Amino acid sequence: MKNLDPDSWVRAMRFLDPLADRGQRLVGAGIRRGGAPAATAKNLLNGPWLGHPVHPALTDLPIGAWIGAALLDLAGEERAADLLMAAGCAAGAAAAASGIADWQDSYGHERRMGALHGILNLSALAILTGAVALRASGRRPAARPLGRLGLGLALGAAYFGGELVFRQGTQVNRNAFTQGPSDWTPAVAESEVREGAMTTCQVGGAQVVLTRIGGRVCAAASVCPHAGGPLSEGRLEGGVVTCPWHGSKFDLITGRVLWGPATTPIPTYEARGGTAGMIEVRAR
Ligand code: FES
Repeated sequence: MKNLDPDSWVRAMRFLDPLADRGQRLVGAGIRRGGAPAATAKNLLNGPWLGHPVHPALTDLPIGAWIGAALLDLAGEERAADLLMAAGCAAGAAAAASGIADWQDSYGHERRMGALHGILNLSALAILTGAVALRASGRRPAARPLGRLGLGLALGAAYFGGELVFRQGTQVNRNAFTQGPSDWTPAVAESEVREGAMTTCQVGGAQVVLTRIGGRVCAAASVCPHAGGPLSEGRLEGGVVTCPWHGSKFDLITGRVLWGPATTPIPTYEARGGTAGMIEVRAR
């Protein structure tokens, strides 16, 4: 059997790029105009507080509700189907907001596939909201084909959502498979690790960034978990590093993510002065 190859389909859809460009400019302008409250809302929608992105958790709700509504309709439970379809639309609006917050920081092929995923989902949401309105006015026979069309589009969109995460690795923690050295391993010369500056090196298969904070040597992963940005090229202020790609902030002592779009902490390593003037590092 021939495998589906949605990746090549989307690569051919270059017409989506100008739309995606415009969409990101509009969202970016909206966030800038909204100031700190809008930036905070985006950060909440990205999900650093949750420890992983909010969007995939929310997307199950509308799809489950819309499938449930279709089944209730088949069983003749029309009032219950009305309610469930409306609840699905409310959850769909929240899922759309979180999806747009994540997509805003994407680019290239990932951005194009995200745009397709979003267009299908927003179309499904608009059609199903129309179906809810028709049902509320008692025109259920007219609403049913719209409901089926909306659900079909939402399932198609979900397929591309799965493609984005499981094949393209969108929003997957870039440090998920990095362990670092299990034993003390020489990293860099002590003289290279200075207060207010970062130095980077490869230790035990991990890319590590080192600095001194209050005289203490701190070592953490140098790879941003969001999309792999080089943290060692970011800005360091008061023990907090800002990723140069999309502005995620991390506490270099604890690894905690302080601001998204990243949602997972960076691994931190133990560090000590070793032999021959070298700093040694090992995984915690
Ligand atoms: S790579 Fe996106 S915030 Fe670091």
